[in-house]
Amino acid sequence: MIYPIVKYGDPVLEHPAETVTEFDTPELNKLLDDMFESMYAARGVGLAAPQIGISRRIAVIDTSAGEDPSQKLVLINPQILKKEGTQIIEEGCLSIPGFREDLRRAKKVTLRAQNAKGEFFEMTGDELLARAFQHETDHLDGRLYITHLSPLKRDLIRRKIRKLQKAGEWA
Ligand code: NI
Repeated sequence: MIYPIVKYGDPVLEHPAETVTEFDTPELNKLLDDMFESMYAARGVGLAAPQIGISRRIAVIDTSAGEDPSQKLVLINPQILKKEGTQIIEEGCLSIPGFREDLRRAKKVTLRAQNAKGEFFEMTGDELLARAFQHETDHLDGRLYITHLSPLKRDLIRRKIRKLQKAGEWA
């Protein structure tokens, strides 16, 4: 099932999501399948559960955008353990369509997470994957990438979105 993507302005995006405590259930496996399907349909490389209105600490990532099944990643209850270096790359978010901004992020990130079975694993990602780790764990903490921008840039984006909302073009 393809879920619609929740857009900026919905409070679910700005609240910390709940820790997952039950694993390996048909319900969780179905949700993960639906999250990948919804992410591919929206042409994203990462999706956090709050973005489909589900406030649970689950994210899916595929930096190959569906080209390489071995790149599919499920992160449940992820926690960043280590950040190294910096990179500045243009970042966007499916929940804030039409906007992209250069953002400073760590270049190499190690995290600890659980898989669909509840097994813990550690993983280190560079560049695009490191950015996805940071962007998606931020989502699970109720933080959008625009919170990392300067107040000036952030307010500009907020104002433009408010205009779109008023015009009924931000549903
Ligand atoms: Ni996002």
